[in-house]
Amino acid sequence: MRFPHGSGRRRWRSPLALIIGFAATATVLTGPISSASAPPVYQDSSKPIAARVADLLGRMNTEEKAGQLQQIAVARMQGDCQWSGGELNTECMKEVLADQHAGSVLSGGGMTPAKNTPKEWAKLTNAIQRYAIKNSRLGIPIIYGVDAVHGHNNVLGATMFQQQIGLGATWNPKLVGDVARATQRATAATGTVWNFSPVADIARDHRWGRYYETYSEDPLLAGDLAASTVKGTEDGTSGRQVAATVKHFAGYSQPLNGHDRVPGDMSLRYLQDTILPAYKKAVDAGADTVMVNSGAINGVPAHTSKYLLTDVLRKQWGFDGVVISDWDDVEYLVTKYRAAADYTEAVAKVINAGVDVAMLPPDDREFHPALMSAIKKGLISRKRLNEAAGRVLALKFKLGLFDDPYVDPAKADKIVLGADKKLARKAAAESAVLLRNENNALPLTNSDRKIVVTGPSANNLPNQLGGWSIGWQGVPEGVEVPGTTVAQGLKKNAPAGTKVDYVADPDKAVQQGKGADAVVVVVGEKPGAEGESDAPRPALAADQQKLVQRLKATGTPVIEVVLAGRPLVLGKAADPDALLMGWLPGTEGGHAIADVLFGKVNPSGRLPVSWPKSLGNDPLHYQQLPGPNSGPESSYHVAYPFGAGLSYTTFETGRPKLSDTVVGPKRTLTVTVPVSNTGKRDGVLVVPVYAARPSSDVLFPDKQLVGYTRVALKAGQSKQVEVEVPVSRLAVTSGDITGQGPKKVAPGAYQIVVGEKKADFTVR
Ligand code: BGC
Ligand code: BGC
Repeated sequence: MRFPHGSGRRRWRSPLALIIGFAATATVLTGPISSASAPPVYQDSSKPIAARVADLLGRMNTEEKAGQLQQIAVARMQGDCQWSGGELNTECMKEVLADQHAGSVLSGGGMTPAKNTPKEWAKLTNAIQRYAIKNSRLGIPIIYGVDAVHGHNNVLGATMFQQQIGLGATWNPKLVGDVARATQRATAATGTVWNFSPVADIARDHRWGRYYETYSEDPLLAGDLAASTVKGTEDGTSGRQVAATVKHFAGYSQPLNGHDRVPGDMSLRYLQDTILPAYKKAVDAGADTVMVNSGAINGVPAHTSKYLLTDVLRKQWGFDGVVISDWDDVEYLVTKYRAAADYTEAVAKVINAGVDVAMLPPDDREFHPALMSAIKKGLISRKRLNEAAGRVLALKFKLGLFDDPYVDPAKADKIVLGADKKLARKAAAESAVLLRNENNALPLTNSDRKIVVTGPSANNLPNQLGGWSIGWQGVPEGVEVPGTTVAQGLKKNAPAGTKVDYVADPDKAVQQGKGADAVVVVVGEKPGAEGESDAPRPALAADQQKLVQRLKATGTPVIEVVLAGRPLVLGKAADPDALLMGWLPGTEGGHAIADVLFGKVNPSGRLPVSWPKSLGNDPLHYQQLPGPNSGPESSYHVAYPFGAGLSYTTFETGRPKLSDTVVGPKRTLTVTVPVSNTGKRDGVLVVPVYAARPSSDVLFPDKQLVGYTRVALKAGQSKQVEVEVPVSRLAVTSGDITGQGPKKVAPGAYQIVVGEKKADFTVR
């Protein structure tokens, strides 16, 4: 049994202050543990976690405690002990694990074992674990972290799922939870039990290189899906539990000019009402860990913000898990931000602001000495050290690492390789958004005998997978990843008698397109991650626009499939006969797109973000505030709005009915909406429920999502769906421009909006 004392997973949340108080006064027992008597409390799995942590902290010396505060990239212990990777290097393992007592290890993007198989991953984490336990005086295990952000994506042969932005288009928290659970099974099997996922940032600027790593531009949708991912990741029912990380706290998605890690500036009102809620939802779902925003907000690097990391996260939200820095962000305070004079000062600032663990690149040998010096100088209190180390240890106890530290390499390949392909296919198909379908160009039918497939992403797995796929920036040159491209998927899934030809050359494709029944052109962007993936001009490349235009001129119906991490301005490629957004659908993406194009799956995806019509209007999102802005592009200038998405059937939604017309701020409204499938195919309808205000002191957007549901409707079927809307979702920060608050639901007139129809209510 892995969580010995726990009746509920969350029970480990001990009154940490109590542990700290105890440990701070306890004498440090530095001698070896006597083996004659009963095992020490911390080794006794029947004891509560709080008691085990307190007992262990009481036995640890300062160096050992300081070690728990560092997480070091595995490359530091491989090959040349810098960046080379390769076989584990025992000398460097000694430095990291025995001399510096590192409490955790991570594989940054692309850091794999010498041979990249699940079995070798399990052997790697076991070897590091064994070394750490054997060479630490008290036998303390490490935790191994990884960015498994769309499946166990660093591992060759692991199924890669649709990226977060695509999953956002499903509006389906249950499905997103299933994907997280599948990822949990794979990561747990290789001993990587700390997953730096989900991203709870919201996407409001198409230029930002990490747009695709978010779920949505909407705080409610993003928060719900992040919360589902936390629950799925930390669900230990089918094997070892994994710790989730809510990142990047807070406001990371708001760099002022759209470039990754550029400082952001935002009002307290925007921070509280728009940015924080998604993280809060994910934290409330029980997240074990939180990662800090690598950027600066309002002139203060998030890593040094006591307001964010202690006042909001700890005091207001009651979070008592582990806060981890982002990559190298302690050192960056000195070398990039010039917000600390030296490493010692930087360490003190970050730890005192509320960071428990520093994530370090493989060339960092300075953190531990700097931390020791900060402690000796009294810049960091013993109490704070105990608190941070205690939280890391508590997490290790919770994950069962003291009692059951190793995984079985013999099982890893079987659990990971090609696992959950059906789920990946389903998730990718459900996230596809049909945006245009002139003259029912889709689905393709039996009379489409000859289909030409072309475009730079039609037969290109790296483009289809995006960043964080084997490599940090995407699939590295020369690496063959198993998976199905769109061209392959169409061939494999075509009905008997239909010929699918993949034509790579644009001129030949145009030529052959002339005689075809349909052309499928797959366009998009190249993979990338972080700043490397920033796109100051987020438009479809000119040559791809041209290709679509030339194909259109043949007169053959053109089906345009976009595989990209963000909606791209389409320009000349904006009016194909059919337009399908497939996002970054993962290794099963080719099958999934084929399922939708051939009509095996009726598309139900809805845009979780806004699709810009032209360049230059970012930040762009549907919650634009009203005002006398009158230029043609000055408000909400989109090709497709937030929530857009067609189906192969037709739906109607009726007037919403409310359970109450006068409510208090703590009540929950039940919104009942009549829905019907008025077409000839079964389908799934997403029903977004918005709120609006006829008048409001603090500006309220034209509409704001306050609830949603998905409903399956057979052809011709009608139903009444109910959506619960807690009135607290309408809360905004009150007051003048300074936004002194408090955040509250302003009394007055409101409306619930579904489609074009409205229902009035009043908040008392
Ligand atoms: C990213 C994080 C990631 C970490 C570890 C950082 O650069 O910002 O999202 O978890 O690297 O790979
Ligand atoms: C690491 C990534 C990390 C990035 C930060 C890379 O070297 O592999 O995990 O996110 O650096 O810039």
